[in-house]
Amino acid sequence: MCDPSSFCDSEQFTTRHLNLHLCVDFSSCAISACSALTVRCLQDSLTSLILDTKDLKIKKISVNGQEAKFSLGTTHSFKGTPLEITLPSPLARGQEAIVEVCSESSPKSSALQWLKPEQTAGKTHPYLFSQCQATHCRSIIPCQDTPSVKCTYYCQVSVPKELIALMSAVNDGNFPDPKDCKNTIYRFKQDVPIPSYLIALVVGALEGRKIGPRTTVWTEKELLEAAAYEFAETEKMLKYAEDLAGPYVWGNYDLLVLPPSFPYGGMENPCLTFVTPTLLAGDRSLASVIAHEISHSWTGNLVTNRTWENFWLNEGHTMYLERRIDGLLHGEQFRQFKGLGGWKELQNAVNTFGATNPLTNLVPNLHEVDVDAAFSSIPYEKGFALLFYLEQLLGGPDVFLGFLRTYLQVFAYKSITTDEWKKFLYSYFKEQVEILDKVDWNGWLYTPGMPPVQPTYDMTLANACIALSNRWVEAKESDLNSFSAADVNELSSHQQIEFLTILLLKDPLPASHVKRMQEVYNFNAVKNAEILFRWLRLCIRAKWEDVIPLALKMASEQGRMKFTRPLYRDLYNFDKAKEQAVSTFLKNRSSMHPVTDMLVAKDLHVDA
Ligand code: BES
Ligand code: ZN
Repeated sequence: MCDPSSFCDSEQFTTRHLNLHLCVDFSSCAISACSALTVRCLQDSLTSLILDTKDLKIKKISVNGQEAKFSLGTTHSFKGTPLEITLPSPLARGQEAIVEVCSESSPKSSALQWLKPEQTAGKTHPYLFSQCQATHCRSIIPCQDTPSVKCTYYCQVSVPKELIALMSAVNDGNFPDPKDCKNTIYRFKQDVPIPSYLIALVVGALEGRKIGPRTTVWTEKELLEAAAYEFAETEKMLKYAEDLAGPYVWGNYDLLVLPPSFPYGGMENPCLTFVTPTLLAGDRSLASVIAHEISHSWTGNLVTNRTWENFWLNEGHTMYLERRIDGLLHGEQFRQFKGLGGWKELQNAVNTFGATNPLTNLVPNLHEVDVDAAFSSIPYEKGFALLFYLEQLLGGPDVFLGFLRTYLQVFAYKSITTDEWKKFLYSYFKEQVEILDKVDWNGWLYTPGMPPVQPTYDMTLANACIALSNRWVEAKESDLNSFSAADVNELSSHQQIEFLTILLLKDPLPASHVKRMQEVYNFNAVKNAEILFRWLRLCIRAKWEDVIPLALKMASEQGRMKFTRPLYRDLYNFDKAKEQAVSTFLKNRSSMHPVTDMLVAKDLHVDA
């Protein structure tokens, strides 16, 4: 047992394969599903099974073709409802059965966002996308919704014939739906065993363009040109990732650019990474998100966290690989610069949660904790800092890559815990156990706040950012004339992001300062969402009223939670903007992603 985020016990039985028949109905905002789970019994005698569900209507269940009794248990506030299925005859250890469940999702399924035509770029067709990580797959189909279980899947999905369906799998052909002449059936297969959170589906008026030997970028046609340009370096990144981590086992690596309400920067759905359109900066400067999602093809999708308490195994190692790819593309100084930027993000996240908050542990306790509410940069950046610290302690990047490669080979296709990771680290570096024993493991893994030690970083690229931010912090009113556009024109967009990140960690600037900054740098007009986001936060914290409309616009016109939540929170905490923040949110709620809606409502103390 012991996944606190699931009702399932993966020691009693495991799901080996899922055979899905889905039908997507835009008029009722529901997916009806017949899900055949091939389950294998892992204990001496099993008389009933428990699956995760959330807001599902269960119509009928059969086991090996024989109708079975079932009951839904008590609904938990965020975990959903356990579904108990009575087996017609008990299963013995090693024995398999096919459990078929016919179900229907709710229009408020937390995994799905149903967009009306007006909410799309093309304005003529509806659009549906899923986001299952971390615990939302159960709101589409009943399943063992825990990353400790991995299975292959095959899916046939019926959708309106003017639309295209894509999944986190390889396409296996399409044909007219024999039962509904208005529909097309798409077939998909995923032959690599994956955890349920990697099941993904999108249906919309999509077009694809091939941008590499194994990559097609998919989006509405209005964005296709921009997307093809922005992500042109994908194959180069894939090759670097393979040099670092080993062969890419998933076949194709496609990209899907979603509508602006997509709640994350990127999502590593196998064969089809999902990304936010806020990456379309026009200058390829935000492509490191692609390096990140590519890296998950090894760290996360091959070696998987056994529970969400071990999420740092996914994200920390992925940040490490992402920055190794950054290093190969832009040099070692750049990798170190990004590493230092990560440390600042970590400080920022620790400040937001509070340095004694147990959710700032690298390995938090998630008993009765909603994973979505616990989400932060902590597992990413504390995890990265630990790995980067170990890299420096154990002999440098080459040595550490040897460890990482072997780790991937040993644990590929498995789900593991932090303890298993640590045991393997000790066994790989068995000649250096004295060094490893000097690591403050309890401090790093199980203590809130900043890590016990800071790694060292090359400062070459950071110095200019630090110097400029100091100039602004120290400037008196009479010094404001000394600033000019040249200050930032000499900085790369990455350095501009870092400059603003540093300022956000300091006491708020006076409004006169940010006003002057706008005059000389014109950040209000930047397209790069990472820069604009930090700039707007800086202005709100400086209590500069003029920027309120722009901040409300960014918070509401895109829905990437990394941007939307802090913007709404800062606006809420600015007395001049509080009411508008709440009213803008209330006005937009009905068109928001369900998870974003739920979390922003909490942030703004608005009732669900
Ligand atoms: N897997 C995550 C996104 C995620 C995490 C979704 C937890 C739901 C629950 C993805 O790989 C990710 O980390 N995205 C980042 C990208 C960044 C760190 C480069 C994001 O969304 O900003
Ligand atoms: Zn990630």
